[in-house]
Amino acid sequence: MKKELDLLYKEIASCTRCHLAQERINPVRDQSDPGKARVILVGEAPGANEIKHGFPFAGEAGKKLSTYLSLAGLTREEVYITNVVRCRPTANGGKRNRTPAKEIPLCGGWLDRELAIFRSHTVIPLTVVTLGNISLKWLCGKSCIIGNCHGRLVQLDEMKILPMYHPAAAIYRKELDALIRSEFEELGKYIEAAGQ
Ligand code: URA
Repeated sequence: MKKELDLLYKEIASCTRCHLAQERINPVRDQSDPGKARVILVGEAPGANEIKHGFPFAGEAGKKLSTYLSLAGLTREEVYITNVVRCRPTANGGKRNRTPAKEIPLCGGWLDRELAIFRSHTVIPLTVVTLGNISLKWLCGKSCIIGNCHGRLVQLDEMKILPMYHPAAAIYRKELDALIRSEFEELGKYIEAAGQ
C-alpha cells in the first residue's frame, strides 16, 4: 500500500489542476504507517502550520484533534489523516486561510484515489471520519450538513463514514467541545466492537 500511496503523492506534488500549484511549497502528508491505520480522518485543507511542518493537523486544530483521538483510545500513529484539498488556500496576501470552494472539485479526485488504495488493501470495512462540512459534502453529497449528520455512521462504497465536527469548530464554538468529546468516545467503542 505504501508504494501506491508514494506514487499518488508524487502525482499530487506535481499537480497543476488549479492555481494553488504556483504557491505550493511543502507537500503535506501524514507520517504514520498507512498499513497500521485503524481509522482514516479527512479534513479540509492544510493551513500555514501544516505547510511549515509537512503533515496534516500540525497546528492548534491538530492539538485538539489529538486530544479527541485519545478519548477514542487512538494515537496519531494509529490513524491516517488526509485532506480534501492538498495545497493551502490563502486570502489576504497569504495572511489567512479561506474556504477552498473553487479548488474542491479540482482536488477532491486525489482523495477518492487515496481512499480507493486503502479500500483495496483493507479486509474489514474502512472507517472514515470526515471532519467538518467540506469532507462530509465531498464524500456523502452536497445535501449533507454537519449540524444534522454528526455522530451517525453512514455506509458508502464499502466504507463506514462517520461525520464529525471539525476540531477547529470547538475553538471558536466552545459549546461544541463536550459533544465532540462524547462522539469520539463513541468512535472508540465502535472500533473496539468492530475489531479494528
Ligand atoms: N485543518 C484541516 O482541515 N486540515 C489540516 O490539515 C489542518 C487544519
